[in-house]
Amino acid sequence: MIQLRDKSFEVYISHDEINQRTKAIAEELMADYADKDPLFIGVLNGAFMFFADLMKHFSAPAEIGFVKAASYEGMSSTGKVDFHEAGKLPIEGRDVIIVEDIIDTGNTLVALDAYLANRKPKSVKVCTLLFKKEAYQQSMPIDYVCFETANKFLLGYGLDYDGYGRNLPEVYILSN
Ligand code: IMP
Ligand code: MG
Repeated sequence: MIQLRDKSFEVYISHDEINQRTKAIAEELMADYADKDPLFIGVLNGAFMFFADLMKHFSAPAEIGFVKAASYEGMSSTGKVDFHEAGKLPIEGRDVIIVEDIIDTGNTLVALDAYLANRKPKSVKVCTLLFKKEAYQQSMPIDYVCFETANKFLLGYGLDYDGYGRNLPEVYILSN
């Protein structure tokens, strides 16, 4: 049990489980992309930890880049999404895999997909550590999912509560 400001959280997914699933998903990505010279795009800040661990198990040639999204304040989505690219990503003609920490309503994802579409990628697929299936409001398929989760606030392993908790090595859930 940990306390962050006014909230208590308990362990929901252990570091071992995360490692196991991350490795399994990386193997699927190897099977699908090893000969495709893909471009992986991590969505900052939340995806930083998952992205690093995932990429350690992707041993074929690939490029890695980042975009930063801003859409979440405190514990509810604001619905507005903006992107900043870290350098100019070589998107045109590439097989792109978006790497996310969590897909909740899907608003961020759909906005990012529209942002990328202007740059003519060859394909765009989605890989996420966590998927709140019940909260998802979009029709874009989520291709690679490590864990489908409860529709509750999660923390750790990249996910924050008002900026804190990203460095926790496990995923925590808000306790009642
Ligand atoms: P969406 O646009 O509703 O899919 O939410 C996207 C972003 O909201 C994620 O990339 C996270 O940064 C943040 N988010 C969604 N759910 C949670 C949560 O349970 N804990 C922490 N951040 C979350
Ligand atoms: Mg995020």
